[in-house]
Amino acid sequence: YEIYLNGLTGAVPRLPTDLSRLEELVERRLGPGPVGYVAGSAGDGSTARANRAALERRAIVPRMLRDVRERDLSVEVLGRALPAPLALAPVGVLSITHPDAEPAAARAAAAQGVPYVLSSASSTPMEEVAEAMGEAERWFQLYWSKDQEVTRSFLDRAKAAGYSVLVVTLDTPLLAWRPRDLDQAYLPFLHGVGTANYFSDPVFQAGLAKPVHEDPDAAVLRFVSLFADPGKTWPDLGFLRDNWDGPIVLKGVLHPDDARLALDAGMDGVVVSNHGGRQVAGSVAAADALPRVAEAVGDRMTVLFDSGVRTGDDMFKALALGAEAVLVGRPYVYGLALDGQAGVEHVIRCLLAEFDLTLALSGHARPGTVGAGDLVEG
Ligand code: FNR
Repeated sequence: YEIYLNGLTGAVPRLPTDLSRLEELVERRLGPGPVGYVAGSAGDGSTARANRAALERRAIVPRMLRDVRERDLSVEVLGRALPAPLALAPVGVLSITHPDAEPAAARAAAAQGVPYVLSSASSTPMEEVAEAMGEAERWFQLYWSKDQEVTRSFLDRAKAAGYSVLVVTLDTPLLAWRPRDLDQAYLPFLHGVGTANYFSDPVFQAGLAKPVHEDPDAAVLRFVSLFADPGKTWPDLGFLRDNWDGPIVLKGVLHPDDARLALDAGMDGVVVSNHGGRQVAGSVAAADALPRVAEAVGDRMTVLFDSGVRTGDDMFKALALGAEAVLVGRPYVYGLALDGQAGVEHVIRCLLAEFDLTLALSGHARPGTVGAGDLVEG
C-alpha cells in the first residue's frame, strides 16, 4: 500500500512497477555493447524466449475463502532462514551497467534480507563485496578454473570473507555463441573488468611473470586460459566437496539424471537453470526441466530455479513446479543500471510485494502450501 499512500502526495515510483518495462528503459540508457551483454542470449534467443513461454503457458488456478489475513513468506533453504523464496543470481561484470557495481547490488540484497550470490567474474574483489554486506547472507558462485590452486585459493578467500554457500556453475565450460556480443566484439572479460577476483588473487598473481599492472595483457591472457575448464567430469566434484565445508549447489542442471549424479556426488542442491538462455540455443526451457528434476531429487536435496523469472506470479509458478526458491538475474541488473542500489531494492521489493499478493489472492498464506495442484498447463 506504500505506493498508493505515496500517491496521495503526488509521488510516483522512480522506476516502473511493471518490471518488464525496465529492459526498454535500459536499452535507451546504455550503449549497444553493455545492453547486448546484459539482455543478449545464445544464438537467435530461442532459449530465452522459451523460458518466458514455459512460464506463461502455465496458469495459476486461484482458490477462494482460505483465510489469508496473516501471511508469512519466509522459507528455509539449505538450513538458512530466508525472508522469502528469492535470491539475486550471480551476474558478472556489473561495473558495465553502473559504477557502483556489485557492492550496490549486494547492499540492496542485504537491506532486504535476500541472499546475494557473488559471481566469480565480479568486477569487485569478493572481500570488498563482503564488507559492503556486513553480516548479511552471501553466497559465492564459482567458475571452476583449470588451475586447481586458483580454485582452492578462491574457496579459501570466499570462506574467510563469510560466503556460506558455494554455487558451482556447470553450464559454462565455454562461453556460448552470443551474437549480440560477437557483433560488438564485446567481451567484457577481455576489457579487463570481470577479472577483479583473479587479479587480486595471490595464487593467480604468482603464475604471472610480471605484476598485473606492469603487463595487464599477459594477466588477461592467463585469466582467459584458466577461467573455465571443459575437461571437468563428475568425479572432479570430490575436490570441491573436500575443500568446502558448507552447502554446495550445482547451477545449470536441466536433466534429472544429472540431478541424481549431483546427489551421488554429495552435493546439497541444484539450480535448475539454462543461464537465462545464454548458453545453449534451442535448449529446454528451465521451467519445463524443473518438474522432472524436482521429481527425481526434490525430496532429498534442495532444488532452486532461475531463467525467466520476471514477476511475483513467476515465483509462485516456480514453487508450484517444485522449486524451493528462485534466483532472479536480468531484472535486478536493469534496476542497478537505472538507479544503482535503490534500483535493485525497487526490483526486489516489487517482486516480493507481487509474490505476497499472488500467494494471498491464490488462497495461500505461506509458500510451503503451494503445489502442482495450483497450476494448469494451457
Ligand atoms: C549471467 N549469469 C551468470 N551466471 C553465473 O553463474 N555466473 C556469472 O558470472 C553470470 N553472469 C551473467 C551475466 C549476465 C549479464 C546475465 C544476464 C546472466 C546467469 C545468471 O546467474 C542467471 O542464471 C540468469 O540471469 C537467470 O535468468 P534471467 O533471470 O536473467 O532470465
